[in-house]
Amino acid sequence: MADKAILQVGDKKIELPIIEGVDGSKAIDISQLLAQTGLTSYDPSLGNTAICKSAITYIDGDKGILRYRGIPIEQFTAQPKPNFVEAAWLLIFGRLPNKAELAEFRQQLIDNELLHEGIKDQFQHIPADAPPMAILSATMNNLACFHKQFLEVEKPEGLVAAAARLISKVRTIAAFSYRRSRGLPFIYPDPGLRYCANFLHMMFSLPYKQYIVTPEIEDALNMIFILHADHEQNCSTSAVRVVGSARANLFASCAAGVSALWGPLHGGANVEVINMLERIYQGGISPEQCIRDAKDKNNSFRLFGFGHRVYRNFDPRAKILKESCDRVLAKMHRQDPLLDIARRLEELALSDPYFVERKLYPNVDFYSGILLRAIGIPTNMFTVCFAIGRLPGWIAQWKEQHDDTSSKILRPRQVYIGAQVTDYVPMEQR
Ligand code: ACO
Repeated sequence: MADKAILQVGDKKIELPIIEGVDGSKAIDISQLLAQTGLTSYDPSLGNTAICKSAITYIDGDKGILRYRGIPIEQFTAQPKPNFVEAAWLLIFGRLPNKAELAEFRQQLIDNELLHEGIKDQFQHIPADAPPMAILSATMNNLACFHKQFLEVEKPEGLVAAAARLISKVRTIAAFSYRRSRGLPFIYPDPGLRYCANFLHMMFSLPYKQYIVTPEIEDALNMIFILHADHEQNCSTSAVRVVGSARANLFASCAAGVSALWGPLHGGANVEVINMLERIYQGGISPEQCIRDAKDKNNSFRLFGFGHRVYRNFDPRAKILKESCDRVLAKMHRQDPLLDIARRLEELALSDPYFVERKLYPNVDFYSGILLRAIGIPTNMFTVCFAIGRLPGWIAQWKEQHDDTSSKILRPRQVYIGAQVTDYVPMEQR
């Protein structure tokens, strides 16, 4: 294929360079289009636009491939496998850490797990029924008030320290928001516990009774966090990049990621999936009706946990989660009727021309809620758990953009369709 594309506008022909990814995928570089032709490009949901070059995560949506820094996602879930902290380091710093690097990072996570008491006190003033994603986003932003030394991180040590603070504290913020919603006393982190076990301890221990984390549960949560850790230029990551491109600090940029993730078409879909399965279980609707509603163009309902902008094949994370649901529930000696319903919905959808023709397959959110339920995580904390998992990815993407000296502020164009020049009409004449 030529390394240039020719675009003809009227009589004028211009050459546009074609750039190539390491997998051979090609993109037309239109960065000089406006300067050369006076034209912008129109791609309203950016479905056809690469906003950056990135070396963090690779996805082949047609083949259902996902790799972190080149390592297939399946290798993060089969023995011997890294844990979430190791995966986070890999994503942020671009290679697997050695023993000393990992030990040092772990120590930084331990040293930073407490929240400033000033932040802790703020939880008392939040209504008990406040959405945990609102608390997470606000408190993450608020960290900038208490750790002002990280408003600018020009040196690599500064980035490591800021990343460790965020990755460590996000668990504490999440657990405290849950405790607040239940009117339960806050449980301080335990430095003797590993990352996931410590989060579960802060969520579920009582002052007089330590929550005992079983290996199955710790393992399942590790896997869930790893599977959510990055997914290249999705909605929340793009939000982080847009905010970060203005040179906004890491805390503010990641708080924007939390806000975007909250939406039901993105990370919030894991809550919608469980609500949908519950409605089917309680008899509100049947799986068949659910599929009919999802296909009905006069109905705004969508089959949550199905479809993806990039995957036109099985989301490999959904495959892993589906298999894990069986394994983990069996190990815990639990059954969940919602899992049977999910399987039935998947079976119906995958044999229905509507879903087949549109290449709509289960995505990461379809089975993750069932596992989170098995771990004991309440539904309103599902998207918060997604955010804890995604945080290393946001940090990695923010760092990649920040380190790229050629990166500019992200500022799209528009095609204006509003009123032409119009005179102001004084109030008394209207
Ligand atoms: N149920 C029913 N129909 C669907 C679904 C669905 N879940 N997803 C897509 N479609 C249909 C659309 O109506 C559209 O049909 P049309 O061509 O007849 O108009 C076609 O499939 C293409 O869908 P788009 O909305 O154009 O696809 P897009 O790439 O913009 O959206 C998205 C992707 C938002 C994920 C969409 O599939 C969806 O809403 N899914 C349900 C919500 C969900 O599970 N979100 C989580 C995604 S994973 C994540 O973010 C972590």
